[in-house]
Amino acid sequence: MSASKKKLDVIVIGELNVDIILSSIDGFPSIGKEILANYMSVTLGSSSAIFASNLSSLGTIVGFIGKVGDDIFAKLVLDSLQSKNVDTSHILRSASVPTGATIVLNYDQDRANITFPGAMNDLQIENIDFAFLSTARHMHFSSCFMQPGIKNDITELFRKAKELGLTTSLDTQWDPEEKWDLPLENLLPWVDVFLPNFQEFKFLTRADTIEEGIKKIKQFANYIIIKNGSNGSIGWDGENIIYQPAFKNDKVVDCIGAGDSFNAGYIMDYIKNKPFKKCLETGSLIGAINTTRAGGTGAFENITLIREISRERFNLIF
Ligand SMILES: Nc1ncnc2c1ncn2[C@@H]1O[C@H](COP(=O)(O)OP(=O)(O)OP(=O)(O)O)[C@@H](O)[C@H]1O
Ligand SMILES: [Mg+2]
Repeated sequence: MSASKKKLDVIVIGELNVDIILSSIDGFPSIGKEILANYMSVTLGSSSAIFASNLSSLGTIVGFIGKVGDDIFAKLVLDSLQSKNVDTSHILRSASVPTGATIVLNYDQDRANITFPGAMNDLQIENIDFAFLSTARHMHFSSCFMQPGIKNDITELFRKAKELGLTTSLDTQWDPEEKWDLPLENLLPWVDVFLPNFQEFKFLTRADTIEEGIKKIKQFANYIIIKNGSNGSIGWDGENIIYQPAFKNDKVVDCIGAGDSFNAGYIMDYIKNKPFKKCLETGSLIGAINTTRAGGTGAFENITLIREISRERFNLIF
């Protein structure tokens, strides 16, 4: 199928869960005591789902391959994605395992998370419908360490996607076991856009600085983008290191999902063949927009709201 005849722009493969976000918390929890949170919201969680939802809100045509349980959280996940026009026809339901959930304790610009993986543990490469995957132009995979059922086959997954003619991107996200064992040398040649954050990148490359890490993997990596919160991001375009400042937001609500929204902005422009620097700028803007509303999807209700925030808060028309 030629790129122009593809049904979908992007298929996201990844984990699905709900976020139970507690904010404005009176101190830190400790065993045997109880403290209060002054706000709570229950929303679509998971890096992959936030990416898919926001990318779709930006006008890209998105499908999803993942696994949920057969419970009320699954309904929340599916309803949320469908309300943003994400194709959920290839999200599998497990009758035996509940949908995953993350309790997010939100403190200023950072947060402590506890995740029950549930059905996201179960997704395996055998579950992936490659005929469906081939209906998209691009594959994005996120949170490999949260998906043990698929992590060992990650190189195979990316190789197959490339062989089917898709471009690819990977956001590893955090490794809860902190082992950081990913076969970068075999894997990254099949990954067109590698999108870890600052800490993740240093652990994955076993380097003390970003520059050292880039030096270690540039022989077999393609585009590398390293996100670093309000410090902005650093890109490697195959030849040069490019430093992209963050857009200044004086009134940050929270930074939940900023990295996933950055990815959405970057990939939206990448699949339109925009220049590397432009993709970085768009990623940076969409990441900053994410921080103006609560949670990972609050600022991405629809394209009108996204454009309004961009204009009013960052003085940019897009
Ligand atoms: N406070 C902020 N102000 C402006 N822009 C921000 C802010 N925080 C994040 N961003 C933008 O979003 C990008 C991604 O954020 P971050 O570095 O937090 O990603 P992450 O650690 O992968 O986040 P996530 O928890 O979503 O996985 C940053 O590189 C930056 O461009
Ligand atoms: Mg991230």
